[in-house]
Amino acid sequence: MDYQCLCNCQECTLKGNKVVLPYVPLDPIAKVLLVGQAPGKTELVTGVPFTGPAGKMLYACLMGAGLDKRRLYITNLVSCKPPEDKKGNDLPPTPREIMNCNPRLRQEILDIKPTIIVALGGPALYELTGQDKIQTARGGMYPLRDKYQYDCSVLAVLHPSYVMRQRQWVETTIKDLKEVGKFLLNGAPPKEQDYEFLVDPPLPMLEEYLSRPGILAFDTETTGLNTRLDQVIGMSFSNSYTSAAAILLVPDDPRAALVKRVLEDPSILKATQNGSFDCAILHSSLGIDVQGMSYDTRLAEQLMNSDMPTTLDHLRAVYTKIKPYKPSKSEMKTITHWGKQRMLEYANWDAVCTYQVMVEQKKVLTDGQLHLLETLLLPLVPALNSMSEKGVLVDINYLAGRYAANIPRLKSLEEDIQQRLGINPHSPKQVKELFQLSASDRPTLEYYIERGDPRAENMQLVLECRDLKKESGTYLKGLFDRLEDGYVHTSYLPDGTGTGRLSSRDPNLQNIPKHLRRLYIAEPGCYLVSGDYKQLELWVGSVIAPCEILHQDLLNGVDVHSLVAAEIKD
Ligand code: URA
Repeated sequence: MDYQCLCNCQECTLKGNKVVLPYVPLDPIAKVLLVGQAPGKTELVTGVPFTGPAGKMLYACLMGAGLDKRRLYITNLVSCKPPEDKKGNDLPPTPREIMNCNPRLRQEILDIKPTIIVALGGPALYELTGQDKIQTARGGMYPLRDKYQYDCSVLAVLHPSYVMRQRQWVETTIKDLKEVGKFLLNGAPPKEQDYEFLVDPPLPMLEEYLSRPGILAFDTETTGLNTRLDQVIGMSFSNSYTSAAAILLVPDDPRAALVKRVLEDPSILKATQNGSFDCAILHSSLGIDVQGMSYDTRLAEQLMNSDMPTTLDHLRAVYTKIKPYKPSKSEMKTITHWGKQRMLEYANWDAVCTYQVMVEQKKVLTDGQLHLLETLLLPLVPALNSMSEKGVLVDINYLAGRYAANIPRLKSLEEDIQQRLGINPHSPKQVKELFQLSASDRPTLEYYIERGDPRAENMQLVLECRDLKKESGTYLKGLFDRLEDGYVHTSYLPDGTGTGRLSSRDPNLQNIPKHLRRLYIAEPGCYLVSGDYKQLELWVGSVIAPCEILHQDLLNGVDVHSLVAAEIKD
């Protein structure tokens, strides 16, 4: 097919020498189509995309990911070379140029019928998916835009020319390209008619389903996200790659007893996506004490890719070929009004998706990661849930006294500032304008205060007023609103931070200003203990490196942090 004649060349500003597109491999390993930006100088000579310096980088990254560039389909957004900037670098094609060449690209996609498209760089990603932030999107899968009238996932990867200039991205790009491997190994994905979905099956049918062998993935449908106050209204289960069963659950439902028995049976191994939530709400809403937790897709992903999203929808796109099924956020809020059929079908997709993600993740999890998951993270979940259920005791008298003292002081400060300086101290814009600064955050104001700026006193007033408002609103009122019988039940998150540290939410119990820590008190007869590792990462580093001198210094009690800080300051 002469693809080039499909382009709108008459009206195109490029109209240059065309590179023959697409590159069709003689011996393809699969229908993988790489889409770059535009040909460069070398490509004009060879007539083949990605044969210049960027092509070399692409070749190297693909090799790193176990892929042979010569066995993949390759094309570009436009088939002519764009002009260069003053430094001799090719300019990216303009949206109009991309549009003029688009009928060709569309036809190529329809003819090749790729199982996956790799968008190389921001312009290709935007054109193919509408995603406009390559740095945050990279490594993720996105559906091909409707206008291509072809159903396919698009993998976002940094452009090889960029990686060539910023070599620190080579490893990331290799890792991202490894996603392609999953499309080569898994064979044809199941079709929708291959799925066996039981929707609200009667007791005997559910019993038969739950007695099938295999790890049981499960998920809860709930009235909301508060594990203490919301209710479980439905459940879904999956114990194979293409089957699931979902039920509505009311307390006197005869199937409730079966569900309890299965979930509490430690010999039936279970898998979830974010099981911490499911287990907590099952316990508080139905008194079910889940046993036999053997896998959590979210915790596993956190172990493998701590800097990537861990939502089920993201994992679906990365690990499975299930089509996007999650409704919009606003639709999700109305789940209780969806009607039984729709809600349970959705629940079935969640369960089977969790099952498939588990199977696929296990192919890439290292033994060490699996060991960590099984011996450390999974046992931590029930411990954290019971801590959360028990709650932290709050000194209500101190809280009330402090709040009562703060409010009049805050009011009078606000009025004072309004009268004297004519601004609302909580408006960053007004504060910036008053002090003629480009920012109004704390470090900026403190910078001027510390240097004895003539406006320091007023800046200090603004900071004091802001602190009081934050203390009264976030720390005192926020805490008060969450109190239940004098306790606050924060949610502890084993995977809430990219570094693997434990965090907590609603309320966040980290980073509480020192003077407010006494809001939290020990039970009578108990103590609150505060502890920290000293220079832990240096100890670990000195062993892994290994670095004998550092290790000896640490053994001798040298404060390495202070030494380094002093050197830098000098
Ligand atoms: N060469 C191509 O063929 N495409 C690019 O995007 C860059 C170099």
